[in-house]
Amino acid sequence: MMRQLSRIDNLIHQFDTVLRTLIPHAAQPSRPSPATASIHDDAMSDAERRHAAGLMRINHTGEVCAQALYQGQGFTAKLPEVRGQMEKAAQEEIDHLAWCDARLQELHDRPSLLNPLFYAASFGLGATAGAVGDRVSLGFVAATEEQVGRHLDRHLETLPPGDHRSRAVLRQMAIDEAHHAQQALEAGGARFPAPVKAGMTLMSRVMTCSVYRL
Ligand SMILES: [Fe+2]
Ligand SMILES: [Fe+2]
Repeated sequence: MMRQLSRIDNLIHQFDTVLRTLIPHAAQPSRPSPATASIHDDAMSDAERRHAAGLMRINHTGEVCAQALYQGQGFTAKLPEVRGQMEKAAQEEIDHLAWCDARLQELHDRPSLLNPLFYAASFGLGATAGAVGDRVSLGFVAATEEQVGRHLDRHLETLPPGDHRSRAVLRQMAIDEAHHAQQALEAGGARFPAPVKAGMTLMSRVMTCSVYRL
């Protein structure tokens, strides 16, 4: 009976995570946004605002994928020693999700309509990596975080010059993601071979190109 209840509890918790990730403004951050009240944007044209929103929409979807990845992995991976650490990283991803969501709202825009699709795909990838083994699973986290870090660097360069608030959010995210990647490698994550990384880059291109507008 106890076992039955805890399984149901777990399912409810998982479903709650899905809803909090996919429903706009539902994620609860544990840290305030780095875009504090003292940071103000310079004037932006309409085209610049739309460009900034497109980039922040990509970052938001990236965080949706991160939630799904950690959740999928949590289902199948054992990770006895690093579970606490992974949970802390997942909480930091919730912060990122909420900060990007808030920034999109400030830019008078919305998250991607494709988020449920990317959530499902990332959940499947996370669960598969976790089922293969902890080394692969942690290696997948490291490779993903490194890729996200490269996106963030590129976005920091191409954001409109006047968009100081998005820039503040992305700078803190870049620091956190680098830390997540390093932690996953130190915990024993496998270094992925170049062809796997190339496949991941291709997938991320599909995501960024579609989400920028949709
Ligand atoms: Fe993140
Ligand atoms: Fe991360």
